[in-house]
Amino acid sequence: MIEAKNLSKHFKVKGKPDKVAVADVSFTARDGQVTGLLGPNGAGKTTTLRMLSTLIEPTGGAGRVDGKDIRADAMAVKAAIGVLSDARGLYTRLTARENIRYYGELRGITGATLEARIEKLAALIDMTELLDRRTDGFSQGERMKVAIARALIHEPKNVILDEPTNGLDVMTTRSLRELIRKLREEGKCVVFSSHIMQEVSALCDDIVIVSQGRVVAQGDAQHLLEISGKASLEEAFVHLSGETDHAPTSPTSPTSPASTLSPTANQGMMQ
Ligand SMILES: Nc1ncnc2c1ncn2[C@@H]1O[C@H](COP(=O)(O)OP(=O)(O)OP(=O)(O)O)[C@@H](O)[C@H]1O
Ligand SMILES: [Mg+2]
Repeated sequence: MIEAKNLSKHFKVKGKPDKVAVADVSFTARDGQVTGLLGPNGAGKTTTLRMLSTLIEPTGGAGRVDGKDIRADAMAVKAAIGVLSDARGLYTRLTARENIRYYGELRGITGATLEARIEKLAALIDMTELLDRRTDGFSQGERMKVAIARALIHEPKNVILDEPTNGLDVMTTRSLRELIRKLREEGKCVVFSSHIMQEVSALCDDIVIVSQGRVVAQGDAQHLLEISGKASLEEAFVHLSGETDHAPTSPTSPTSPASTLSPTANQGMMQ
């Protein structure tokens, strides 16, 4: 289980007031559920996930993973999570298999168990044919696959994925979605971020909408439709996140609001 309680993060910016990346974020991501952090660019999703992953220290508030404090018990938290961060750096001189193996070994997994897990993960995310190529020159999606396998190699109880479908094609997105469902069935706690409502709604039991560093709504897709009073998930997201709608408006209604978007706009995406 992953809990955020009034988390905040202010970054120092030279010659300017501090940048408030996260103002106040609270949510609970339960075991056996997929929780989606949904928000527009710059909302604070990555910063929130980086704090919960112990990669950066919060300015205020608290976070817990399986009851362990992200500050006081960072080592225990690290052991309990698998993280796909937004920086997917790989060792380019190593093959995909060697990259994943290295992370497995760092986590104390060795020998036949490690090799079998690499093969299993590779089959699940359709990257078997990539395993023995050096990662130098890998495409964005290929790098992402290696980073996903690396994040899951120790079979963590909690999984944090920052925009895991970025750069993945439809087939791989489907495989990843299956993998996330499998993790849920195994009772794992999965948190992932996205700025695509349809993607989140296709997978998540609980959606946390973040805007300008704050949680502005939380619930399942049906709940978000109800509280926003909108007909489509995309409109609900635009409305709840307080974003200005940048969609072109019809010449006859120059101030046409978001609600004039097709109610089914993009609803079939990523299904
Ligand atoms: N190290 C930093 N120094 C200064 N500002 C930062 C830093 N890291 C993030 N920010 C700012 O904090 C805000 C939140 O950034 P964050 O990366 O968390 O957003 P995000 O929701 O992940 O967005 P995206 O969907 O584009 O990935 C942004 O305005 C960003 O520019
Ligand atoms: Mg981000």
